[in-house]
Amino acid sequence: MRESPDDDSGLPAGVISQFWKELQAEHLRTLREYGPETMKRQQALRYFTWRWSWSALWRSEQFRFLLRCSAPFDLVTAVLSKTDLDDSRWEGVAWPRADRRLYCAATRLIWRYAERATGRHPALRLAEPLLGSPLPVSLRGRLISQDLANSALELSAMERGGASAPLHVLEIGAGYGRTAYVLLSLHERCHYTIVDIEPALTISRWYLSQLFDPDRLTFLTPEQIDRVPRASVDLAVSISTLSEMTPSTRDSYLSFLDEVTVRGRIYLKQWMSWHNPVDNLDVHFDDFAIPARWVPILKEACPVQTQFLQAMWRNPG
Ligand SMILES: C[S@@+](CC[C@H](N)C(=O)[O-])C[C@H]1O[C@@H](n2cnc3c(N)ncnc32)[C@H](O)[C@@H]1O
Repeated sequence: MRESPDDDSGLPAGVISQFWKELQAEHLRTLREYGPETMKRQQALRYFTWRWSWSALWRSEQFRFLLRCSAPFDLVTAVLSKTDLDDSRWEGVAWPRADRRLYCAATRLIWRYAERATGRHPALRLAEPLLGSPLPVSLRGRLISQDLANSALELSAMERGGASAPLHVLEIGAGYGRTAYVLLSLHERCHYTIVDIEPALTISRWYLSQLFDPDRLTFLTPEQIDRVPRASVDLAVSISTLSEMTPSTRDSYLSFLDEVTVRGRIYLKQWMSWHNPVDNLDVHFDDFAIPARWVPILKEACPVQTQFLQAMWRNPG
């Protein structure tokens, strides 16, 4: 990677949507108040860790999917497994006890679904790091998490799309680094580049640099993306990101990915359709300006988050 601060000619400043400017301010306040140590029960709940509440359950597509796709034994296990609801174990999470119980049951259902759907993907054998204070959900005597289960489903799709042993992964908008954790753990020779805005960049750097050799990691702001050499990326990943950006930022990132992934692959998981209420934008995955030369490999509705599409392409260059 080039390191000169003078060559920062990536995306122009001001690339952040109003939606993310508001979340940025909220996440910065939380970071100042709690530090990164509790981020898995703070900022992560606005990344890809879904909250579950009884009051919103009737309109939860995820819950309907889990009910439809769970074996009766899994439903019983999810509800009856030992659940730690003690306030001391849920510090910083001001949810009613009933919602904590629901969160644990839903996480177990996602976990069991991921085990069955992926044939117990190796991601499910990884330990959920205690770093960042994960919520206390256990199954069969071990700590589990929604994030590991969702990552197992995503990795299994990436592998079906031919990304088996990537040496350089680039992720746009990595949150705290849940996907990086899994890919870096499973591919020991892999280097990981994250492009993100603050404070996510500070949080993922804090997290991943304690779990992996910092030589395997590069963190870039949107203004620094020109540091990524052309055709250097085997696998580009972006999950729940592009729909939340302005159209011009999204287009710039897609052109950037086109440059850096020549002879590599691109995996996107994004809302099929979403209304961004802050910027007042209606966003549809099918309207994204996917570069014409990308060869489609897969495109399907996601399991669990059924209102998301996952798609993968090969960039022949
Ligand atoms: C909903 S979170 C998803 C996080 C992560 N992909 C995951 O699945 O856990 C959206 C991510 O996009 C990042 N983001 C928002 N606007 C961005 C921009 N203009 N450039 C890069 N990243 C951005 C946020 O900081 C955050 O990390």
